[in-house]
Amino acid sequence: EHSMALRITVIGTGYLGATHAAAMAELGFEVLGLDVVPEKIEMLSVGKVPMYEPGLEELLRKHVAGIEGSTGRLRFTTSWEEVGAFGDVHFVCVNTPQKHGEYACDMSYVDSAFESLAAQLTRPTLVVGKSTVPVGSAARLAARLAELAPVGTDAELAWNPEFLREGLAVKDTLHPDRIVVGVESERAEKLLREVYAVPVVEGSPFVVTDFPTAELVKTAANSFLATKISFINAMAEVCEAADGDVKKLAEAIGHDERIGNKFLRAGIGFGGGCLPKDIRAFMARAGELGADQALTFLREVDSINMRRRGHMVELAREAVGGDSFLGKRVGVLGATFKPDSDDVRDSPALNVAGQIHLQGGQVTVYDPKGMDNARRLFPTLGYAESALDAVRGADVVLHLTEWREFRELDAVALGEAATHRIILDGRNALDSAVWREAGWTYRAMGRPRA
Ligand code: UGA
Repeated sequence: EHSMALRITVIGTGYLGATHAAAMAELGFEVLGLDVVPEKIEMLSVGKVPMYEPGLEELLRKHVAGIEGSTGRLRFTTSWEEVGAFGDVHFVCVNTPQKHGEYACDMSYVDSAFESLAAQLTRPTLVVGKSTVPVGSAARLAARLAELAPVGTDAELAWNPEFLREGLAVKDTLHPDRIVVGVESERAEKLLREVYAVPVVEGSPFVVTDFPTAELVKTAANSFLATKISFINAMAEVCEAADGDVKKLAEAIGHDERIGNKFLRAGIGFGGGCLPKDIRAFMARAGELGADQALTFLREVDSINMRRRGHMVELAREAVGGDSFLGKRVGVLGATFKPDSDDVRDSPALNVAGQIHLQGGQVTVYDPKGMDNARRLFPTLGYAESALDAVRGADVVLHLTEWREFRELDAVALGEAATHRIILDGRNALDSAVWREAGWTYRAMGRPRA
């Protein structure tokens, strides 16, 4: 049954933590969220989300204490002491980015969160890791917890990987495809079943396993997804060589249920804060375990993916005359790694824009939600306030993130603004007929030139 008496804390309030905290309040729990960045806590405390995530602000405002009409179940703090005193179950949701210049992931945020939390654990509690970590971390962290916590082994660990997608974080958290818990005791399993009683009732499979399997489920799932994208992008390369159409090909193989039609969109490939770094960290960890041979294919998945970005740069160069980008204006539609997100981490769109800029092109970028983050990451690029302004005077236009706004653009008006009507669709998402009708040369990736 669902025990509302349980009090929950969420440590780290990024995409994962902020969504998890709001979702836990939605399920009926009293929730306290912690972040070490005071600005984030100030924003969240007044119901503002520090990033763009559809539906999250509404959910937050429904529960944050002090907001008129809210349930008051959700509060935020920077105090570890408060977190320790408050929580029966602590979810650790801090991020594990790629280490600079290495494949391995940086565990320092996880490690320091555990150290800070452990010192406050003076009564029996369950600590639940949600961050994506190298297999073996949970066992190491469990030992560390027992050693550091004043209650010793009464502070128990469980591992509960998260599978939410940015842009769909709220939906994925409230209606997960599955809940995976790695546990070492029946008590931990029972507690987590209590926490997740509501969505489980709504039909999510509940998979109970050991620590290493729980950690591996997460990296295996992301590796599979990355492989699927690189597979279809490899087919796009072959289609380009053979004059085939990868979009039709994906549709046709997707009718086989064993293959499925999802995650087979060819284009400039995958980016973001997860897939690229997760496959690299997985290879690094497998190497440490002496199992590197098992994952050599992921090296290929990564290089197929990175080749897509270079290929888009080549197509753009060809479109502006073939030699160089010097003196050429390039309008770029999209900066985020995918639509419905403001996240530009390892964004293929921004990477392509940056490469062209570094090769002397005059690049002007527009993105519906990612402008602030893009400017911060790449201040030397040109930015425009609208798609039309980005396209003004362009010798070539690149469509690099498939926002709905771009599918609804007025191709005729844009054609009047551009110097040359050439559009390269890096996401195979625009309606080619509409653009051609408006006088554009439309080119997609892995599809025949018309
Ligand atoms: C991914 C996984 O999909 C989530 O299940 C996982 O929880 C999350 O990582 C994570 O580890 O936290 P996310 O990074 O939000 O989620 O984005 P995806 O929707 O997976 O897209 C990743 C990239 O692949 C994007 O750049 C997208 O444009 C690209 N993509 C996706 C394609 O190029 N083709 C496709 O067919 C699908």
